[in-house]
Amino acid sequence: MDTPQLAGRHIVLGLSGGVACFKAAELTRELGRAGATVQVVMTEAAEAFITAVTMQALSGRPVFTSQWDAREPNNMAHINLTRTADAVLVAPASADFIAKLAQGRADDLLSLLCLARPIERCPLLLAPAMNREMWAHPATQRNVAQAAADGATVLGPAAGDQACGEVGDGRMLEATELLDDLGAFFQPKVLAGRRLLITAGPTYEAIDPVRGITNLSSGKMGFAIAQAAREAGAEVTLVAGPVHLPTPRHVRRIDVRSAQQMHDVVLPLAASHDVFVATAAVADWRPAASAEQKIKKDGSGQVPTIAMTENPDILATVARLPQPPYCVGFAAESHDLVRHAREKRLRKHVPLIVGNLGPATFGRDDNTLVLVDAQGERELPTAGKLSLARELVREIAARLAP
Ligand code: CTP
Repeated sequence: MDTPQLAGRHIVLGLSGGVACFKAAELTRELGRAGATVQVVMTEAAEAFITAVTMQALSGRPVFTSQWDAREPNNMAHINLTRTADAVLVAPASADFIAKLAQGRADDLLSLLCLARPIERCPLLLAPAMNREMWAHPATQRNVAQAAADGATVLGPAAGDQACGEVGDGRMLEATELLDDLGAFFQPKVLAGRRLLITAGPTYEAIDPVRGITNLSSGKMGFAIAQAAREAGAEVTLVAGPVHLPTPRHVRRIDVRSAQQMHDVVLPLAASHDVFVATAAVADWRPAASAEQKIKKDGSGQVPTIAMTENPDILATVARLPQPPYCVGFAAESHDLVRHAREKRLRKHVPLIVGNLGPATFGRDDNTLVLVDAQGERELPTAGKLSLARELVREIAARLAP
């Protein structure tokens, strides 16, 4: 998983009581893999669900469970633990624990250290986990709202099957979702208040009900940009051709198939967005007519002739709107990358073109980009697509009018 923003971070992971404690075990391992250090603190109730031994083994550090722990030379674990932490994440955060936070109570180590943390420097994140009735109860909703008003960031909860057998809101997010949200939390919010529209993936142009013309675009770069933009605080709409990729968290996704459908979805949305990033590998042509029934071999040895017609150029159309969003095009080339990217920028009337070598990047997890704007070129050296997407997002943010 590509979460470099967690590398070198020190996280205090608090566990209060709940079946979801098992997910905290996986989260601890994932945080370690992402390069973070984890100090686990458990309430007495959490110890009924998972042992401190397991959490110590996974975090590689002794676990703290009591405010009377004599291991700290000054006997002040509640102070010391947060002074070097980049964040406190309580996962699971039970209804009772959130109630305590809302009241500022401090009768165990975890609630004590939440209260005693330097509030400006050490943020508090909560991942609620409880039965749906407990979550929906006005008292819990009041307490969560109060904790949020006091500065806590609430991650989730999700809806779905619950350990009690009921179905509804209150499930704790999965470890990988918490990892994503925690990583996003640390990203600078350079696109706060901005709306981004992104196209991604290939298009599919039907020849008949079972055949079509498509290309090798995987959609990974566009999905990475959607994630990075969302992490940077933007509201993101992702218009995706046929791809097999999970939707980045908190991103609105609209699935389409053909270039015409992509065009028809994008055009009405474009004017209400600040930025349009066209990463999709849109088919330039489509069969002039798609056969209603499968085209059959007639035994004569004659191959069918498929008449083609041109698809609308989505990027060029958006760029020519009376008040276009800031448009970023992609140029997937097989040769003469910079020359083609420069030409494409002028031809499509867009301020920024991002060039990449198509055959070298399609389907891969890494990429090399060249940014071409009116000032010249700048290369973003080979890196993972999410790292590149984050860099590109910073470059776009820097070019937007304040
Ligand atoms: N694009 C688009 N609609 C199309 C074709 C392309 O929005 N019908 C966008 C792509 O998403 C990309 C940029 O235009 O951002 C350039 O796409 P590319 O296929 O490289 O360029 P073409 O205009 O098709 O030029 P060529 O095929 O000659 O390289």
